Amino acid sequence: MAQISEEIINDIRKRTDIVEVISRYLPLTKKGKNYFGVCPFHDDHSPSMSVSPEKQIFTCFSCGATGNVFTFVSDYEHISFIEAVRLLGSKLGYNLEHSTRIENPHQKDLEIYKLATKFYQNNINTALGKNAVKYLEDRKIDRETMKKFEIGLAIQKVSLTDYLKSKNVSLDKMIELGITNNTGNDTFVNRIIFPLYDLQGNIVAFSGRIYNTKDSSKYLNTKETPLFKKRQLLYNYHRAHEHLRKNDYIIVMEGFMDVIRASTVGINNCVATMGTSFTKEHANLVKKMTDNIILCFDGDEAGEEATTSAIKVLEEINVEPKIIRLEDYKDPDEYIINKGKDAFLNKIANAISVIDFKMQLLRHGKNLKDINDISSFLEETIKELTKTKDDIVVELTLRKMAQEFNISYDTLYQKYQQYNKPKEVNQPRPKTIVQNNDQNKTQYEKAELSLIYYMLKDSEVINIVEKKVGYFPTPTIRYLSNEIIAYYHKYGQINEADFISYISDKEELKQALSNILSLNNRPEFNKEQTNLMEIDDYIISINKYVKDKKIKELEQSLRNESDMRKQLEIINEISKIKGVKLC
Ligand code: GTP
Ligand code: MN
Repeated sequence: MAQISEEIINDIRKRTDIVEVISRYLPLTKKGKNYFGVCPFHDDHSPSMSVSPEKQIFTCFSCGATGNVFTFVSDYEHISFIEAVRLLGSKLGYNLEHSTRIENPHQKDLEIYKLATKFYQNNINTALGKNAVKYLEDRKIDRETMKKFEIGLAIQKVSLTDYLKSKNVSLDKMIELGITNNTGNDTFVNRIIFPLYDLQGNIVAFSGRIYNTKDSSKYLNTKETPLFKKRQLLYNYHRAHEHLRKNDYIIVMEGFMDVIRASTVGINNCVATMGTSFTKEHANLVKKMTDNIILCFDGDEAGEEATTSAIKVLEEINVEPKIIRLEDYKDPDEYIINKGKDAFLNKIANAISVIDFKMQLLRHGKNLKDINDISSFLEETIKELTKTKDDIVVELTLRKMAQEFNISYDTLYQKYQQYNKPKEVNQPRPKTIVQNNDQNKTQYEKAELSLIYYMLKDSEVINIVEKKVGYFPTPTIRYLSNEIIAYYHKYGQINEADFISYISDKEELKQALSNILSLNNRPEFNKEQTNLMEIDDYIISINKYVKDKKIKELEQSLRNESDMRKQLEIINEISKIKGVKLC
């Protein structure tokens, strides 16, 4: 398959007008230099999204969504970045139907994971795989499902490390990819292997489950690598994405076995967090897919707590999920095996609202025949209700409570208004994500964000950063800065809109960039000219932070060091950093 080069992507972007494209989806009104419209990426009531014809990017000052023409179309249409490129390219006469994305810099590593997967899959089909197949079949995972999810087997007798050596993969590479451990042996031994996929469906890690031994850890995962970061991955995201058009909702589960089970009964729009807590990154990923999110975590108390904390994370980005609780069943896997597809579909259709879920929790441990308990239950519920944006939910809930406890609706409504008032007064309009975080940001963090912001506006700042900033302390910012510098060396200039395309397959960078570009909406940033003195201040603040941190670390090791000679070396080093000469 031919690949779409960056040149073609940039050409399509330059010849496509973002204002014209966005106007096809929603009305835009011109105000000053920019156009404004109601943001389609959150529940917007006034036009919060601005579109800049000059920069060819859009930003929403309310929810922080930002990007170029491709990311707009991809997010709006729920299609991949490259599909958006194809779609807009076809309007200019490009035929990119059979082209794939530009080469992924990790292509070689991905090929190695693919080879390893084939190796594991082959094992499961040999005589040595009999027990594993029996285990899976006992769990009602049939051959077809094994094939679909590329399930394989790691066995002691056949070494993957040896096999990859014979394919000219170096041992260092295998260790780097987490396939082989530091002693040169296979990471996975005697485990059933589940490949883990990135958002595009590439295999980027494995999870191995014990099946005939009593190892202390049930599952073992590949270590985290640049390709595999659990916080940012949702198992089955790439497939679930395709099924959204049919059923516009996504179900978030804890384990990949749950997702696999649901798929065996034809429910394909499920993803799994793989045991880690539901992160901000996960929340943004599902929000991008659809507004209809259903949380279906394990039936136990831990699952209940996981649900509560996922609701919080989603509330922060203005998403109200629905909730399924499985009560007597351990997890969706067990539920579907025991009760079947229709019962689970019924659970989906009757998924409860956040407020109903919270009310269930608030009932725990209360005697709702006791007047004091009733009173605190009503009070706590009403407080929770003020977080709901949906007036209908508010009214229905108050009516239900009125009926259950035989209290007048008006009394409850008055109470609700009491609690709801301060919120209305204090929040005349939504703040930007960046502003929200601002108070908590320390000086160097603000300096980092500001520097990246100006690097994207003005290539002179890139030169200065390259010369003067030794090291950005925050890893994502460091990564972003390296990519900007690499981009600049490649193209000899910087263009925000094209840079967005350049990093479009790197979720971590996209999110960081999105926060930085929302600074556009703030008057103190949106200036015609870069102020080089201000840039210098930022650099001083970052370098000072890095220097102080290094000194603190050295002072700590000085305290722990008993060897005199080494102590002297450390003192010397500290003095050097402090710029003090020792005589
Ligand atoms: P089964 O026992 O095979 O049915 O697993 P499960 O799907 O019920 O998984 P469980 O609810 O125990 O855990 C949910 C997810 O957490 C799994 O899909 C794993 O990704 C992860 N997990 C569970 N146990 C371990 C473990 O021991 N180590 C690691 N690294 N991850 C685990
Ligand atoms: Mn299970």
